[in-house]
Amino acid sequence: MNANKALWEKGDFTRLAEGMRESGEELVRKLGLTDRLRVLDLGSGDGTTAVPAAQLGAEVLGVDIASNLVAAGNARAEALGLTNLRFQEGDASDLHELDDEQFDLVVSIFGAMFAPKPFDVAKEMVRVTKPGGRIVMGNWIPNDPTLVAQILKISSSSSPPPPDGFVSPMTWGVEEEVIERFTQAGVPEERISFERDTYRFTYPTPPAEVVATFRNYYGPTMNAFEAASSNEREAELQAELETLFDEQNTSDDGTSIPATFLRLTVER
Ligand SMILES: C[S@@+](CC[C@H](N)C(=O)[O-])C[C@H]1O[C@@H](n2cnc3c(N)ncnc32)[C@H](O)[C@@H]1O
Repeated sequence: MNANKALWEKGDFTRLAEGMRESGEELVRKLGLTDRLRVLDLGSGDGTTAVPAAQLGAEVLGVDIASNLVAAGNARAEALGLTNLRFQEGDASDLHELDDEQFDLVVSIFGAMFAPKPFDVAKEMVRVTKPGGRIVMGNWIPNDPTLVAQILKISSSSSPPPPDGFVSPMTWGVEEEVIERFTQAGVPEERISFERDTYRFTYPTPPAEVVATFRNYYGPTMNAFEAASSNEREAELQAELETLFDEQNTSDDGTSIPATFLRLTVER
């Protein structure tokens, strides 16, 4: 079994994505999409960025490793009547089902960063992008004090050690690592640029309930709780996460938490 696929099919990321829609739409508005541009959303989930991109008129393909999220994305596209949007299964480390130089824009927001073999991921993203096209990635930043980097840090410190050769997804949030991966894929360094941006996680429920959603539906946090249960550390992990969410919440009657990420653009 592919452990990467199993991790994301284990939970149900749609439950978290519901609170990410506004930031997804805002990010897509910044991408300057026009009609008929061909867009690949890699690690698309159920379409937080793919749906608004299609609503702006682009021809969008969402590719994700998790079959449940592909099905959820296709259900959203159908419910919204978006005939210019479809989702299919695929692995960002090996996009063999996609031809070279097909897309004007390859976007991957907290998606391809979770695929193994980051050098292969960069190579594949470059390969499927048209000359003159763009790649835009949103990646969480290691040791950043805001929400998601801290959830992943707390979750990984409670999880069993990763297998030999495992490269942390968080390395995609380090500019030098990103430059090394894309220059090896043939992109000159001056064509890679970086900005810090913010995603907001917004839910109508209080922080403790949002922690429960992560515990029940977010693969990395589910694994952390499973590991914690074997040494009776579950209550400690729950308390640690609740403190984090409470401290970062900016809403009085629900949950609204900003999280900083690295947004990078590669001009092909
Ligand atoms: C944090 S979620 C983000 C989903 C979506 N981009 C969003 O913003 O809502 C990470 C996504 O990456 C997908 N993913 C993880 N590893 C992948 C891989 N190797 N290839 C393609 N997708 C992958 C997961 O299934 C999941 O949908």
